Amino acid sequence: MSLLPAPEPTIPSHWYFDTDHYQRELKAVWYREWVCVGREEDLAGTGDYFTTQIGDQGIIVTRTDDGLRAYFNTCRHRGAQLCSAESGHFRNGRIICPYHTWTYSTSGELLATPYRLDTGSFDTSRYSLYDVHLETWRGFVFVNLAEEPEYTVVDQLGEEAACLRNWPLEEMRTVYRTTESVDSNWKIYWENYSECYHCPRIHPDLCKVMPVYKLGTFDSREIPEWTRDDDGDAETWTPDGKSLLPAIDGLTEEELGTVVTFASFTGMMYVAAHRDYVRTVRLMPRGPQKVDLIIDWLLPAKLGDVDKKILQPMIDFPTQVIAEDAQMCELNQKGLRSLRHKHGAIVEQEYEIRDFHVWLRDRL
Ligand code: FES
Ligand SMILES: [Fe+2]
Repeated sequence: MSLLPAPEPTIPSHWYFDTDHYQRELKAVWYREWVCVGREEDLAGTGDYFTTQIGDQGIIVTRTDDGLRAYFNTCRHRGAQLCSAESGHFRNGRIICPYHTWTYSTSGELLATPYRLDTGSFDTSRYSLYDVHLETWRGFVFVNLAEEPEYTVVDQLGEEAACLRNWPLEEMRTVYRTTESVDSNWKIYWENYSECYHCPRIHPDLCKVMPVYKLGTFDSREIPEWTRDDDGDAETWTPDGKSLLPAIDGLTEEELGTVVTFASFTGMMYVAAHRDYVRTVRLMPRGPQKVDLIIDWLLPAKLGDVDKKILQPMIDFPTQVIAEDAQMCELNQKGLRSLRHKHGAIVEQEYEIRDFHVWLRDRL
């Protein structure tokens, strides 16, 4: 943690709504960094696929006999979108363009061009699907739209990933997924996630589970006189803080005693690891003033099917917290349009926002 001498300015207000600036960020951040697009388990069998949208770019991710592959969702003929469904299965390992039926293998080769008048000089090998770089990390699937990514997923995640080492992420299963659309710029949601200054006012129920949040900060160590008397006895994020599931094997005493361990993958995704479950939140920009949050709940696979009654409080509580945040993000978005508000001020406990702005400026 580092302390700020005095409030310093935020990035310019128009960066949160200007269309040209949004395009600049897509190119500098979203088309250059590794972006998590799902879980390996989302593609169980060979030929299964899902599609996703990163900024303006449609992507197909599929499982082949040789592992996972990703492509731009664009036909090499005249550029039609290949797949419109969110997910599905390529029958007989064929990706067929709906327009003029150019037919590709799931490994991306152009196999056939039905109905094309044969001129005898057509080299199909020049028209493979446009490849997208793909890496997996602990059960998560990441893609990178750059022609040559500058670093690996592991390098990008850096030290933040280390705090999750004892959670068996690769052996966990998604038991619930939801998408929440927020009418705010993606950076507003990320900044909201990066500070707890708003917690006392916005999250009264969460503050009961996490008393330190009543102070408007994430961590009692940020408050010199804080004595930890009021640390609460919550175990996890449920309405009463009680865990309804067995503790995950392999966690240390300290991890078992910590209500939540956050790993932040700047701007794009965070992981909230609890003693009994893991929640991931992925941000996907949908325009200068819209962001989708894709939220997954992961449990150890060996637990098998868990009763909905047990899952519900674990789902409802964070969903409520996110809804409270989303409402403020939308207000934040509206207010930023003021002609007078050229930029805001970052206060002491918003040091992570300042770091985020440094990160963003570096990329731009
Ligand atoms: S655009 Fe795909 S076959 Fe014509
Ligand atoms: Fe919040």
